[in-house]
Amino acid sequence: MALNILEEKMRTSFGEIENVNSNLLEWCEVDGQPGNFIKVLTVDDRRHRVDFLFRQDPHREFAKHNHRCTAVALTLEGLWGYREGEEMHFPGTFSYEPPGSAHTPFASAEGMTVYASFQGTGPEMLDILDDDDNVVDTLTLDFFKQYYQPV
Ligand SMILES: [Fe+2]
Repeated sequence: MALNILEEKMRTSFGEIENVNSNLLEWCEVDGQPGNFIKVLTVDDRRHRVDFLFRQDPHREFAKHNHRCTAVALTLEGLWGYREGEEMHFPGTFSYEPPGSAHTPFASAEGMTVYASFQGTGPEMLDILDDDDNVVDTLTLDFFKQYYQPV
């Protein structure tokens, strides 16, 4: 049995189980969000779920958004926070963002990298908000799927 196959291969699977060597994925800049990068690990259409690594360059932020999905994030590197919050998140911090929560994530001078997972009850994941909290765009599972890199 080849135990180290993932060292050279981006993805392996058996049955419904998928394994991903995230080191081999390319960082993709998120459309409309300069300085924000994503590596899509897996997409599960049936369960409206996307798992990904997310990176922000120093001092960059992601547009204010309202969650249609449940999101979790585990900080792996750097330091970041929510513009609306009071604390900064360091490696090891776990963040839970339930549906209906709204916030603007921004990176410190260190930048940041998190592992995150979105799970929706439908294809809608995030509503992008303007300064007056009007919805100006809705990011669906397909938006994230465009960054999926197959084998
Ligand atoms: Fe969020």
